[in-house]
Amino acid sequence: MKVPIASPVMTEKMVEAAANALRNERLTLGESVFKFEDAFAKMCGTKHAVAVSSGTAALQLALQAYGVKAGDKVVTSSMSFVATTNSYVSFGAVPGFADVLASDYTIDPAKLKAAVDGRTKAVIPVHLYGQPSHMDEIDEIASETGAVVIEDACQAHGAIYRGKVTGNLAHAGCFSFYPTKNMHVGGDGGMITTNDDKVADLCKRMRHCGRKGQYEHDVIGYTYRLNTANAAVGIEQLKMLPAWNEKRRAAAKLYDQMLKGVGDLVLPPQPTADVTPVFHLYTLRTPRRYELKAFLEGKGVGAGLNYEIPIHLQPIYRQMFGYKEGMLPVTEKCCKEVIAIPLFADITAEQVKYVVECVQEFYSR
Ligand SMILES: Cc1ncc(COP(=O)(O)O)c(C=O)c1O
Repeated sequence: MKVPIASPVMTEKMVEAAANALRNERLTLGESVFKFEDAFAKMCGTKHAVAVSSGTAALQLALQAYGVKAGDKVVTSSMSFVATTNSYVSFGAVPGFADVLASDYTIDPAKLKAAVDGRTKAVIPVHLYGQPSHMDEIDEIASETGAVVIEDACQAHGAIYRGKVTGNLAHAGCFSFYPTKNMHVGGDGGMITTNDDKVADLCKRMRHCGRKGQYEHDVIGYTYRLNTANAAVGIEQLKMLPAWNEKRRAAAKLYDQMLKGVGDLVLPPQPTADVTPVFHLYTLRTPRRYELKAFLEGKGVGAGLNYEIPIHLQPIYRQMFGYKEGMLPVTEKCCKEVIAIPLFADITAEQVKYVVECVQEFYSR
């Protein structure tokens, strides 16, 4: 049996929706883009959603729309995809990092409190692997220094924290529709969610070359639009998201039950009354992850190292900022041990059982 690490869905209906948009709508900023935005805002419970070309673009525009500029400090977690910080280092803002909690890999509020200062203009909690961050504590810490909070919800479409959906837990939320995410758009794409009218309007202008009117530009902008055909796919994907997230949670529960007590494995955080995760990835922790990965791959089972190198230790970040090992001990330890095993909406119970059997075999040799 072969079980891939991820398996993006593209149905005939989604292909047809894209083809219809290509035949009948404006190719950029066509009707499907606005319909997708409305549906996405509704799902999150926010007033606005602004479709853009990627999750990175979403983070960049949200930060800039809230006035973050070169020289400002933006504090986030280093246990994330490098795009979290690339989004603002690219325009000259400076990273600050707070360590994560080993229990759920999201930013540790106590460490965040120590990391924010008068220069901190924004905080970006990352809802890693689909697990919402500790938003009440984070919002309180940020509000003490006047920093805005931008959720990196690129891995957490539809996750719930204390009754509210991600994207509606702070000043703005940023999503990625990269093909392996819980929902995608048949290519790259992103979304900014916010309840702030001015910020939504500014993001719309910045994604569209800073246009005020057709030939008038009153802000520095970019070509960060989401293509219409991709939005048409996104509309169909969004309809499936609740059922897909439910299936991911069911598969995660099966893994939890069958992997409990196996070898030295640390299992991912469990859903609680406060938190309903969406398991973008199902991650285990073991100091033997390289051996385990090679063993699984030998059995036809995909495995990922998300993230093998934390952001602050990436070569370009060491070079630019002089970061060294030992700065973020929990992040560094987790990044040395984490391994993702297959999880996707259509994974079958047989596939989950096969993966578990392979993991068990690895530990029983
Ligand atoms: C946590 C996180 N932040 C940001 C991004 C950037 O999104 P994109 O690849 O769409 O630019 C991703 C996705 O790849 C991500 O996983």
